[in-house]
Amino acid sequence: MKEFKRHLVTAALPYANGPVHIGHLAGNFLPADIYARYLRAKKQDVKFICGTDEHGVPITIRAMKEGVTPQAIVDKYYTIINESLQTMGISFDIFSRTSNQVHHETSQAFFKTLYDKNLFEEKESEQYFDEEKQTFLADRYITGTCPKCGNPNAYGDQCEKCGSALSPDELINPRSTLSNSAPVKRVTKHWYLPLQNYEVWLKQWILEEHKDWKNNVYGQCKSWLDNGLQSRAMTRDSNWGVKVPLPDAEGKVLYVWFDAPIGYISATKELTPQWSDYWCKDDTKLVHFLGKDNIVFHCIIFPAMLKAHGDFILPENVPANEFLNIEGEKVSTSRNWAVWVDEYVKDFPDMQDALRYVLCANAPENKDNDFTWKDFQERVNSELVAIFGNFVNRAFVLVHKLCNGKIPPFHLDAKDEKDDALFDKIVKTKETVSNCIEHYKFREGLFAVIDLAREGNKYLQDKEPWKKGDDQVSIDNSLHICMQLCANLAIFINPFLPFTAAKMCRMMKVVDRMLDWDNSGSLKLLQKGYPMNAPELLFKKIEDEQIVFQSEKLKNGLILSAQETAAGKANDEPSSVHTSLKETIQFEDFDKIDLRVGNILTAEKVEKADKLLKLTIDLGFEQRTVVSGIAMHYTPEEIVGMQVTLVANLAPRKMRGIESNGMILMAENAEGKLIFINPHGEAMNGSAVK
Ligand code: MF3
Ligand code: ZN
Repeated sequence: MKEFKRHLVTAALPYANGPVHIGHLAGNFLPADIYARYLRAKKQDVKFICGTDEHGVPITIRAMKEGVTPQAIVDKYYTIINESLQTMGISFDIFSRTSNQVHHETSQAFFKTLYDKNLFEEKESEQYFDEEKQTFLADRYITGTCPKCGNPNAYGDQCEKCGSALSPDELINPRSTLSNSAPVKRVTKHWYLPLQNYEVWLKQWILEEHKDWKNNVYGQCKSWLDNGLQSRAMTRDSNWGVKVPLPDAEGKVLYVWFDAPIGYISATKELTPQWSDYWCKDDTKLVHFLGKDNIVFHCIIFPAMLKAHGDFILPENVPANEFLNIEGEKVSTSRNWAVWVDEYVKDFPDMQDALRYVLCANAPENKDNDFTWKDFQERVNSELVAIFGNFVNRAFVLVHKLCNGKIPPFHLDAKDEKDDALFDKIVKTKETVSNCIEHYKFREGLFAVIDLAREGNKYLQDKEPWKKGDDQVSIDNSLHICMQLCANLAIFINPFLPFTAAKMCRMMKVVDRMLDWDNSGSLKLLQKGYPMNAPELLFKKIEDEQIVFQSEKLKNGLILSAQETAAGKANDEPSSVHTSLKETIQFEDFDKIDLRVGNILTAEKVEKADKLLKLTIDLGFEQRTVVSGIAMHYTPEEIVGMQVTLVANLAPRKMRGIESNGMILMAENAEGKLIFINPHGEAMNGSAVK
C-alpha cells in the first residue's frame, strides 16, 4: 500500500447555468464532502477543491434565452450555487470559478505546453454554421432526421430514439436548434488531441493498474478503450471561453472540457502558494468525485492531457456515482423535474442533515437510485429520529434525571458482558466506518453508524436504569457507557452529518477537537463528574403536510414548465426548437384525455406569482377556475373573450392556494412566446376536441 502525504479531493465543477439539484448533491458533492471531512478528522493534509464551470455552450444558450450576457448568467448562478452548497455544509477549501484570471492563465499555459511539445494535430474541416446567429453549431445544437430510423428530431451527436451515435454530417435536413434555420457549411481550423496515441498507456494504467476502481467506472472505461479512441478537438469557435493562446486564433476558445478540469489546478493555485506540492508530487492522493456522465472526461481525456503535459500527478481513484431519479423519473432540468438545493434549504431551514442523511442512504453508488418525498419522510422519521435521535436524547435525559446531569463514574467491579459487548461493537464500528469511507462505500458506512445507535437503544432497554431505584452502581454504569457511546457516535456521524455532530459537541460541552477520528473507539472520552448541557433536539420529524407540499410543488413545476418554457430556471439540456417526440401511445391512451373548447370569461394576476394568471373558463355547461402559467406572455386584458382548448378532465391541483381545474393548451412561436391553440372559427363552448 502506497503511503500518501497529502490528499486532493475534487468534486466536478457544476455548470453556472442554473442552480444545483439534489442529484448533484447525492452523486458528487456529498460523497466528496464526507470523504474530505473524514480525512480532516484523521488529521490528514487535505484540500477539497471545487468551483463553477463557467464556459461552454450551455451558458451561452442560457444567456441568449434570457436575453442577457453570459457573464450575467454565470455571476447569478455562481452566487446561488455557492450559497446553497455552503448552507448544506459542503466544506470546500475553495469554491472558485473558471472565469477567473488565474484560470484563464493556467489553462492557456497548459494548452501552450502541449502545443509547444507538438502534441496537437491542426485540422481544417467544414462545420455547420448558423448564419442568423453567427455561430458554429456543435453537437447538440444541430438537429435533423436520423439516417438510421427516420426520427425527425435527432441531435448532431446522437439519435435518442434509436440510440445511434451520429455526426452532424449524417443528419438529413439539418437545422439549427438556435434559430431553426438551415445551417451552412464553413471551413474552420481546430486543434485536436490524438487520444489514440494514449490508448496503450491508458489501457495499462486503467485496465491493468486500476482494477480497484468501482465496477461502473472500470466498465465504462473498458468499453471506451475497447472501442478505440480518436482525435478529439480541444478548441471551439465561440466568443465565450478561454481564448486559444496562439496568433491567428481569433474567435477560437478552448473546448470547455479542456479548460474545466484544469479548473481544479487553477483553484488550488488560488487557494495556496504550495499548490504544486499537491499537483506535482506523487505522494499526493488525488481523488475525483463526479456523476457517471463525467467519467470519460475524468478517466480518459483529462488523464491523457495530464500525461501529455507531464508535470502533474494522475488520479488515484475516480469514484463516480450513477444517477438519482426523482419519484421514479429521470431528472430533467428543462421539464423542471428536479428538487433544487436552493429551494430545499429555504423550505427546510436547519434541516440540512436530514437531506444529507437521506441522500447518502439512497446514494446511487452502484446503480441509479430513486428519491421520493415519502421515502425522505420515512427515513428521517424512522431512522434518524427514532433510532439515532432517540438514543442520544434518552441518554441525556436520563443523565440529567438520575445523575445530576454529570457523567457518572464507572464501577469496574460491576462491569458485565453487555457492557463489554457494546464496547466491542464501538471498536468494530470504528473499523467498519473507516474502511467503508476509505473505499467510497458511504451508504454502508452510514448504516454502520445507525446500527451502533440501534445497539445503544437495545442496551438501554436491557439495562433499564430508570427502574433501578437506589441501585446507583447499576445506574452509573449503564449511563456512563451510554454517554461514552454518544461521544463515539458524534465522531462517527461527523463526516456524514456535521451539523448533528456540532450539536452533540455543544450538548457534551466539548470542543470540536473531540471529533478527531483517533479519539473514537474509546470509553474514556468523557470524564466522570463532567457536567452535560441539556439535550437539544437533534432532528425534527417530517410531517405529512410537508411531504404533500413538496410532491405538489414537484408536479406543479412540471406543469408550469410545460407551459412556460422561458421560465427562469436551469436548463443544461440545450434548448431546442423541436423537442424530441414522446413514446408512441395507443388510441385508448389518447382517448382518456377530454379536450374541450371554452371561452375566457375573466382573467386576473395571482398575487406573489409573476408567472400565473387565474382564469375563469366558460364551457357552456359549466364554468371552471384554471390557473395558467402565462402571465409573462399575456396581460389579463388581452385574453378575456378568447376561445381556448382545455384539458378538461385533468385532476384538480392547488397552485398558490387556488384550485386549478384543467389546463389550457399552448404552443410556442419562433420567439418563444406562448400561443393559444384555438379553433379556426367559432366553435361551440363545451364542444369536445377530437
Ligand atoms: N460542468 C460539468 C458538468 O456539470 C462538469 C465539469 S467537471 C470538470 O457536467 F472536470 F470539468 F471540471
Ligand atoms: Zn435514429
